[in-house]
Amino acid sequence: MADKRVGIMGGTFDPIHLAHLRLAKCAYEQYDLKTVVFLPAGDPPHKTDHLVAPAYRRLEMLKLCIRDYPQFQISEYELEKQGYSYTAETLEYFTQVYPEMEFYFIIGADSLFELDSWYAPERCLAKATFLVGNRLGRSEEEIDRQIQYLTQRYGGIIEKVNMPGMEISSSDIRELLSKGQDASHYLHPAVNEYIKQNHLYYQGPVENLTMIVKKRLPAGRFLHTLGVVETAQNLASKYGADVDKAKVASLLHDIAKPLSVDELIAVCEKGGEPVTEEELAGVKVLHAKAGAIMARDEFHVADKEILDAIRYHTTGRPGMSLLEKIIFIADFIEPGRSKAPNLDRIRKEAGLDLNRCVCMIARDTLQYLRESGAHVDSRTEETYEYYKSITNLHL
Ligand SMILES: [Fe+2]
Ligand SMILES: [Fe+2]
Repeated sequence: MADKRVGIMGGTFDPIHLAHLRLAKCAYEQYDLKTVVFLPAGDPPHKTDHLVAPAYRRLEMLKLCIRDYPQFQISEYELEKQGYSYTAETLEYFTQVYPEMEFYFIIGADSLFELDSWYAPERCLAKATFLVGNRLGRSEEEIDRQIQYLTQRYGGIIEKVNMPGMEISSSDIRELLSKGQDASHYLHPAVNEYIKQNHLYYQGPVENLTMIVKKRLPAGRFLHTLGVVETAQNLASKYGADVDKAKVASLLHDIAKPLSVDELIAVCEKGGEPVTEEELAGVKVLHAKAGAIMARDEFHVADKEILDAIRYHTTGRPGMSLLEKIIFIADFIEPGRSKAPNLDRIRKEAGLDLNRCVCMIARDTLQYLRESGAHVDSRTEETYEYYKSITNLHL
C-alpha cells in the first residue's frame, strides 16, 4: 500500500519553516506515505518587493531544508509552468501522469478554512485525499466542523494529521527578518544561514545600502562607487557570479576611503587586525582592509567572499575568487576612470579573459607606483607574478 501513497505539499515556502517540515514528517508517518513531494508555487505575476523571495531562492531554501530527509523530494512543476497554477489543475496533472499512485494533499489548518474560496474545490478533493495539520488557535471542534462542511458540500475525504501545534507562519518570519530580528527558532539552520548570507527579507542596513553609502562618501567617490557597482554587476552576470554579492561588495569597497590614517588604524585595531609595518608604509591600500572590517562589523556582512573582495580590491592577491577579480577589475575600469594609459585595452580584456585583465591591471599599477616613487605593496607584486605565470602573458 505504502508504495502507492504520495503526499504533496504545496505552498510558496517563502521561506520554508519548521512547521512545514513537521507537518510533512507527521503526515508521512501517520499515513504511511512513500514520499512527500514539496511543490513550490511559481512567482506571482505582479512585481514583488524584496520582502518576497524569488522562485530560485525559495527553491534553494527548500533544497537545503529537506536535504537530510531522503523520504522527501521537490517537484518544480509549478515553477516551470508559466502563469498561475491552480491546485485543481496541478492535481489533475499528477493523477494523469501517475495513474497508479494515490495522492494525499497536505495542508495547514489555515488553508482548510480558505478551501471554500479556492478554484474548483470539488476537483481538488476528487483527485486527492486532503490531510490537514492542526494549528494553535483553532479548536478540534472547529476543524471537525469545517471538514464536515467541506466534504458534504464538495465530496472527497479530508483527514487530520496529529502534530504538536506550532504557531509559525512564513509571513511572521518575514516580518521578523525585515526588522533585522532573529527567526532562527523557526527555521532549519541551513535555511537561516542562507537567508542571512543573501540578505533575504532584510530591510535593514544592507537593503538601504546605496543611501547609506551615499551619505558616507564625498560626491566624487560616490559617483566612482556607482560606476564600480554597474561594472561589477555586468561582469558578474557575464561570468556567472552572484550579482547581489557583486552589488554589496562594490557598494562597500571604498567605504573606508574618507577616513584619516589614524581612523583607519583605529578601525583595524578595533576589528582585531592591527596594522602591520608594511601596511603603514603603504598607507594608500589600508582603506581596503579597513573597508572589509567595517563591512563585517558595521554593516553585518557575513559573507567571506564579499569581505575578501573588498579587502583585496586594491592589491589583488594570488588565486583570487571570481568575485574578487570582478571587484578588482571593476574598480579600475569603471566608466568614470579616464587616466590610466592602457584603459581601452584593459576594458576590452575584461570582456575576454579576467585573469589576463587582472595581470594587465597589476602590471600597470606597479609601473605607475614605481614611476611616481610611491611605495610598492608586495601583494601587488605577488598578484602580478601569479597572474603572469598562469596566463603566460608577456606584456
Ligand atoms: Fe579603493
Ligand atoms: Fe574604488
